[in-house]
Amino acid sequence: MTDSVVDSILKARYLREGEKDYDDICRRVAEALGENEDEIRDYYSEMLSLRFLPNSPTLMNAGTELGQLSACFTLYVGDSISEIFDAVSWGAQIHKTGGGTGYNFSNIRPEGSPVCSTDGVASGPVSFMKVFNAATEVIKQGGRRRGANMGILNVWHPDILNFIESKKNEGDIANFNISVMVNDEFMELVEAGEFDKVWIHHPNTGEDITVGAVWEGIINGIWRNGEPGVLFYDEINRKNMTPNLGSIDTTNPCGEQPLLHFESCVLGSLNLSKFIYKDVLDRKALERSTRIAVRFLDSVIEKNVFPIPQIRIATRRTRKIGLGLMGVHDALLMLKLAYDSPEGRDFCEETMAFVNEISADESHRLAAEKGAFPAFKGSVWGDYEVRNAAMTTIAPTGTISLLAGCSSGIEPVFSYAYTRKDTVQKTFEMIHPLFESELEKTLSGIGKSPSEVKDLKRKAINHVHETGTIQDLLWLPESFRRIFKTALDIDWRSHVLMQAAFQRNVHASISKTINMPESATKKDIADVLLLSWHEKIKGLTIYRTGSRQSVVLELSKRE
Ligand code: CDP
Repeated sequence: MTDSVVDSILKARYLREGEKDYDDICRRVAEALGENEDEIRDYYSEMLSLRFLPNSPTLMNAGTELGQLSACFTLYVGDSISEIFDAVSWGAQIHKTGGGTGYNFSNIRPEGSPVCSTDGVASGPVSFMKVFNAATEVIKQGGRRRGANMGILNVWHPDILNFIESKKNEGDIANFNISVMVNDEFMELVEAGEFDKVWIHHPNTGEDITVGAVWEGIINGIWRNGEPGVLFYDEINRKNMTPNLGSIDTTNPCGEQPLLHFESCVLGSLNLSKFIYKDVLDRKALERSTRIAVRFLDSVIEKNVFPIPQIRIATRRTRKIGLGLMGVHDALLMLKLAYDSPEGRDFCEETMAFVNEISADESHRLAAEKGAFPAFKGSVWGDYEVRNAAMTTIAPTGTISLLAGCSSGIEPVFSYAYTRKDTVQKTFEMIHPLFESELEKTLSGIGKSPSEVKDLKRKAINHVHETGTIQDLLWLPESFRRIFKTALDIDWRSHVLMQAAFQRNVHASISKTINMPESATKKDIADVLLLSWHEKIKGLTIYRTGSRQSVVLELSKRE
């Protein structure tokens, strides 16, 4: 990552008054969270070395008066006007502090239902979602970015078709991602081909909505512009860590954190590429950083200034934290493992299992020192006392991976050379450093002279910049092309299998986009959803190339 990109992000988002660089930020955050000299030193050095970064609100607000440190919130939305507008107000307060909010709108009565107090008719969840969207529009997060929202409707809500179509035109309800919460019953009917079966009867329009109509609506929406996302209610609840507190029907904006109403969660990510030394994973170093990160995130719960009392109460009851990985594809490149190979997936699964296990062990140690989370009795942890009901999550790491200069979350690299337009509208030319160095080594290794290496290197970089792939450069050795695949070279099945490999060892969920080529059919999209359900994924987003006009990352030819 070029210094200018990092500088521009630091200035736009993270530097507080009097701070000049990243070092100052690490110091402020470490001092705000560490309880003693040792902790402060460890937190500081983990962040400064880019081995571990907490989510943006922690970097922005730790040690400041605002003091709100979490990225993820879910709120309760009831059916009365006062409950709905309470949620609008809570959401605004959360956005103001840099957090993102998720809402399940299914309690809201369907469009056209009688409203007794006024003798009128209800306008339904989608109309209210537009109110939340408008409120977000005017509130910037901590003055630094616009708030993100997740709007969810259960597949069994009568307004489901209207909801699915609510983002039909690009730019509609722009401050929301929307997701349909499907259940096993619905997926089983789809799988059995029961498309003509009536799924819901709309009480007000009298319409019988079939399984096929809902399924087609979802598929068409995804094919058209990547919305809605899909969440799997039963899988989320089979893995609910605190069933004693009720079931979960809501996630945060990017879907990686299913939460009970009013819970919040702080995320943090270990940069896996920093733990590869001499072509092997340094498990000792990874263990040490994982333990420090768990303590760091648990300390956030203590020090956090929660925006409303309900959130403080719910968050302190379960003390969920979301430690995950970023720089995963970079680590695979360093190990010369293909992202879309069984070996690549096995490595990821084992590594995440290790991080998950160490996280639980550290949380267990914390419980011995400071006590288990208050709702521990009746949780899935049985007799094994832990301080945090859930410890692991895979975040998108949209901004922090830029700061760390690594590939984001568990996503494959989008292109090894591209033009980046950042959130403050500057453009930067980016070349992946590992791609460049390995390319050079590979070309020299096959006997090219230094001047040939130089020419061919430029040719390959230009090609990947233009087209996003090197798979058609047959003069490059197959062994190089097999490793240096991009998000679009990787078939959808491998995207799904990678997500599933991680999900098996993550307590919460995973932010992941299943990239598909422009030529993907609606049948392909249906197959992705069915495979994801079978693979026990909790939720996903699918994006078909070219199906939206505006995306942050683009190849140069689309600039
Ligand atoms: O990299 P960074 O810590 O900035 O965030 P991320 O990993 O891309 O996103 C993590 C979570 O932060 C999202 O799922 C949202 O809950 C929240 N977020 C937000 O509220 N507003 C944004 N503009 C981006 C993220």
